[in-house]
Amino acid sequence: MASARLYFRFLLFQLPYYLHLAIAQNNGTVPVGATLTAGSTSFPWLSPSGDFAFGFRQLDEENSSNDLFLLSIFYNKIPEKTVVWYTDNKDQNPAVPRGSQVKLTADQGLVLNDPQGKQVWSSKIDIGTVAVGHMNDTGNFMLASSSSSRLWDSFSNPTDTLLPGQTMETEQGLFSRKSDTNFSRGRFQFRLLEDGNLVLNIANLATGFAYDAYYISGTYDPANSSNSGYRVMFNESGYMYILRRNGGRFDLTTERVVPAADFYYRATLNFDGVFAQYFYPKNGNENWSVAWSEPENICVNIGGEMGSGACGFNSICSLDSDRRPKCACPKGYSLLDENDRYGSCKPDFELSCWGGGQGYNKELFDFHELKNINWPQSDYERFKPYNEVQCKNSCLSDCFCAAVIFEDGSCWFKKLPLSNGMTDSRIASKAFIKYKNKGDDPPSVPRPPDPEDKKKSKMMNATGSVLLGSSVFVNFAFVCAFVLGFFFIYKKKWIRNSPGDGTIETNLRCFSYKELEEATDNFKEEVGRGSFGIVYKGVIQSTRTSTTAVAVKKLDRVFQDGEREFKNEVFVIGQTHHKNLVRLLGFCDEGQNRLLVYEFLNNGTLASFLFGNLKPNWNLRTNIAFQIGRGLLYLHEDCSSQIIHCDIKPQNILLDDHYNARISDFGLAKLLTLNQSKTIKTAIRGTKGYVAPEWFRNSKITAKVDVYSFGVLLLEIIACRKSFDIEMGEEYAILTDWAFDCYRNGKFDALVGGDMEAMNDVECLEKLVMVSIWCIQEDPSLRPTIKKVLQMLEGVVEVSVPPNPYPFSSSMGCY
Ligand SMILES: *[C@@H]1O[C@H](CO)[C@@H](O)[C@H](O)[C@H]1NC(C)=O
Ligand SMILES: *[C@@H]1O[C@H](CO)[C@@H](O)[C@H](O)[C@H]1NC(C)=O
Ligand SMILES: *[C@@H]1O[C@H](CO)[C@@H](O)[C@H](O)[C@H]1NC(C)=O
Ligand SMILES: *[C@@H]1O[C@H](CO)[C@@H](O)[C@H](O)[C@H]1NC(C)=O
Ligand SMILES: *[C@@H]1O[C@H](CO)[C@@H](O)[C@H](O)[C@H]1NC(C)=O
Ligand SMILES: *[C@@H]1O[C@H](CO)[C@@H](O)[C@H](O)[C@H]1NC(C)=O
Ligand SMILES: *[C@@H]1O[C@H](CO)[C@@H](O)[C@H](O)[C@H]1NC(C)=O
Repeated sequence: MASARLYFRFLLFQLPYYLHLAIAQNNGTVPVGATLTAGSTSFPWLSPSGDFAFGFRQLDEENSSNDLFLLSIFYNKIPEKTVVWYTDNKDQNPAVPRGSQVKLTADQGLVLNDPQGKQVWSSKIDIGTVAVGHMNDTGNFMLASSSSSRLWDSFSNPTDTLLPGQTMETEQGLFSRKSDTNFSRGRFQFRLLEDGNLVLNIANLATGFAYDAYYISGTYDPANSSNSGYRVMFNESGYMYILRRNGGRFDLTTERVVPAADFYYRATLNFDGVFAQYFYPKNGNENWSVAWSEPENICVNIGGEMGSGACGFNSICSLDSDRRPKCACPKGYSLLDENDRYGSCKPDFELSCWGGGQGYNKELFDFHELKNINWPQSDYERFKPYNEVQCKNSCLSDCFCAAVIFEDGSCWFKKLPLSNGMTDSRIASKAFIKYKNKGDDPPSVPRPPDPEDKKKSKMMNATGSVLLGSSVFVNFAFVCAFVLGFFFIYKKKWIRNSPGDGTIETNLRCFSYKELEEATDNFKEEVGRGSFGIVYKGVIQSTRTSTTAVAVKKLDRVFQDGEREFKNEVFVIGQTHHKNLVRLLGFCDEGQNRLLVYEFLNNGTLASFLFGNLKPNWNLRTNIAFQIGRGLLYLHEDCSSQIIHCDIKPQNILLDDHYNARISDFGLAKLLTLNQSKTIKTAIRGTKGYVAPEWFRNSKITAKVDVYSFGVLLLEIIACRKSFDIEMGEEYAILTDWAFDCYRNGKFDALVGGDMEAMNDVECLEKLVMVSIWCIQEDPSLRPTIKKVLQMLEGVVEVSVPPNPYPFSSSMGCY
C-alpha cells in the first residue's frame, strides 16, 4: 500500500520533470551509453519533431498477462503508435519481456538484452566505432562515427515498412509479420530482384524458398538491361517508383497523393500479403487510408502449385473493400490453429482410404453446395461429359475425393488439402464439398456454444459457409435466427469481433418495432426527410456498457407481398461495406412497419455543408468529390450485384466526423420498386435538377443515371450552389447550362465565385469541370463509366474536351 502511494507521488512530482526534459532538450541525439528498459517510465528516444520514437512499445495491452514489448520505431503522435520498424530476427519472435534493456554501445551499436542479461539482438556494426545515435525526423534511426560516417541505420535494414526518403536496392526486401499483433516473420515477401523486377511472393518459412510471384512489376528488360529497374524509391513527397538504369521510372504510386506536409505516409507489406501505401493526416485522429495496393485480387493472383494460396489450406479467400483478403473455413471444416484465422482448416471428420477403402463408407457422407467458389489447384481427376448427378455420385464413391467442381458437363475431382480456395462472383461453376453427415461428429447441426471466446470463431465460420452455400433468403432467416439466438450470450464479443473475423458478413441486427420506438424516444427527433421516408435520431445499446447513436429510417411506402424481396434487398445492403458508404446496422420488419437502422453521422448532409453560409475549403470539397466517386464505383462495380443508386444528390451524402463523404440510401431504389415500378420515377422526379434525361423517356435505366447525377453534384461542389436556383436569375438558374457556358468561355472564376483557393488550382478546377460535363451528356452512351470518371479525376487518364452536353439547347449566361 505504502509503496503504491510512493509510486504515485513519484509519478505526480517526477513526471512533469521528465516531460520537460523530453520536450525541451530533445534534438534527436542519443549518446553512447544511453539505455531504455521495457516497461519502465523512461521516455523513448524521440525525433526532434516528436513524430517518431525509438523504444519499447507494449504489445497486446488488453491482455496484461502477455507482458511483452517490441523494440521498435513507431509514430509517436498518433493513437495507434503504428510500428514502422522492429528488431527482426529471422527465427525468433522479436517480442521481449518486461525488464529487457537496449543499450547504445560504441562497439556493437544497439544491443538488446533480456532481463537476465542475455543478448537477444544487436545492430551488428562491421567496421568503426559508434559515437552517437540519432532518431531522425524521417523515421530513420542512425548510428554514426565521430567523423559522422553512417555505420548503421534502420532504413538500410527494413522490416515490413518503407517510409518517404527510404530506398530499396536490388536483393533487398521486406518481410511480412505473422499477424497484426505478432511480429514473428510471416510468409510474404516484397523484393527487388537482381534482374530488376519488383515482386511479391510467398516464401516457405523453413527454407526461405520463394514460390511463384503474385505481383511482378515488369521492370526487367532481357533485350536491353539499361531498361531494367535497380532501385525502389519512396520520395519525400510520397511517391513510390522504380528507377531504371537508364534513369527512367516505373511509377508505383500512379495517383496524385495528398500533400506530404500535412500527411504521414508509409508503405507496408501487410501480414496478409497485400502491399499498400497509406496516408494519415498529421493533425487528424482517424485511420490510415490506402492510396494504392497490390495485388489487385490476392485471392485470385496467388496461383502456382506450391503453397496454400492467400489463406491456409482448405480455407476460402474472399476480398474486402480494401482489397484485403478474408479467410473462412467451409462448413464441416474448422481452423487448425484457433488463433490463426488466416491459417489452414482441417476437416471435422476423417476422410481416408485406409484398409483398401474398408474404412470408407459412402453412406456416411454428403455434400454442401457452394456457389461462386473454386479451388483451382488440387485436381486429380476430370470426367467429361458428366452430369451433375454423375459427378456427385462418383465423388461420393471415391474415398480420395474431398470435393468436386462441376461446370458445363465437366467434373473435376479435388483431393485434400484443397489449396487456393477463393470466392468470386464471376466463378460460374458449382462446387460440392464433402462432409460426414452421420456418425459421431455431425457437422450439419451447429455446435452448442462453447464458453470460450476462441471456439466461437468456429461457429462463425460455420455460419459463413452456410451463407456461401444456400440461397440468400435462407441465409437471411438463418442469420436472423442465429443472431437472435446467440446475441445475448455473445452480445459484447460478437459486436466487437464481427467485422473481419474470418466470417462472411453476418452482422445485421433484427430489431423489434418496440425496440426502435424506445431507441428513438417514440420517433421524437426528426433529422431528415427523403424520398423514401423520414429519418429519426436514436440511441441503441451496442454492448452491455456502451451505446451508439443511430439514424432510423421509417420507410413510408408499404409493400403488400414484397416480404421475401424486402429481406433479400436489406441483406444485400447489409453486405455492402465501403468507407464512403453509410453503414446499415439493422432493420425492422414487422407487418406494415419497415425500418432501417443506419450508423449516425455527426456532420450532417453535404447539402447543408455546401449551401450554408460559409464556403467550405477547396481541398476539402475536391476530396469529398473523390470520395463520393469511390463510393459510387464500389456500388457499380465492386459489389457482388451492381447497385444503381438512382438518387445521388447532396441531401443523400452524409459527412462523418472527419468530413469524409458517405453515400446513404443506396439500394433503396430497388427496394421500393419491387412491386411498384412507377413509383420510383415519380419519387425521383421530385428531385429536380439531378435526374438524367432518360428518366423522362422510355429508355432503359442503367448505372449511367448515377454518373449523370454525379456530374451535377460535382458542379455543385465546384460552384457551392444548388443545381437549380431560380434566385440566381433566369440565365443562371440551371447550373449545368451555366457551367457549360462558363467552361466554353473559359470563365472559371465566375463559376467558383472568385474562390481564390480554387483559382490557384485552376488546372484541377478545369479538369473537374470537364469531367462533370462529360458526366452530364444527354446521351447516356457518351457518359463515361464511374470508373473512367475516377481515373480522369485522379489523373490516371487524360480528360479530352467534352462535347456540348445538350447539343440542341441555346447558350446563356456567363458573359
Ligand atoms: C543535441 O543536444 C546535445 C545535448 O543537449 C548536444 O550535445 C548535441 O551537440 C546536440 N546535437 C545537435 C545535432 O544539435
Ligand atoms: C492472455 O494471454 C495468455 C497467454 O497467451 C492467455 O493464456 C490468456 O487466455 C489471455 N487472456 C485473455 C483474456 O485473452
Ligand atoms: C536526417 O535525415 C536526412 C535525410 O536523410 C538528412 O539529410 C539529415 O542529415 C539527417 N539528420 C541528421 C541529424 O543526421
Ligand atoms: C507468433 O507467431 C509465432 C510463429 O507462428 C508463434 O510461434 C508464436 O507463438 C506467436 N506469438 C504469440 C505471442 O502469439
Ligand atoms: C538500350 O536502351 C537505351 C535507351 O533506353 C538505348 O539508348 C540503347 O541504345 C539500347 N541498347 C541496346 C543494345 O539496344
Ligand atoms: C517525387 O516524385 C513525384 C512524382 O514523380 C514528383 O512530382 C515530386 O517532385 C518528387 N518529389 C521529390 C521531393 O523528389
Ligand atoms: C478505424 O477503424 C476501426 C476498425 O476498423 C473502426 O472501428 C473505427 O471506427 C475507425 N475509425 C475511424 C475514425 O474511421
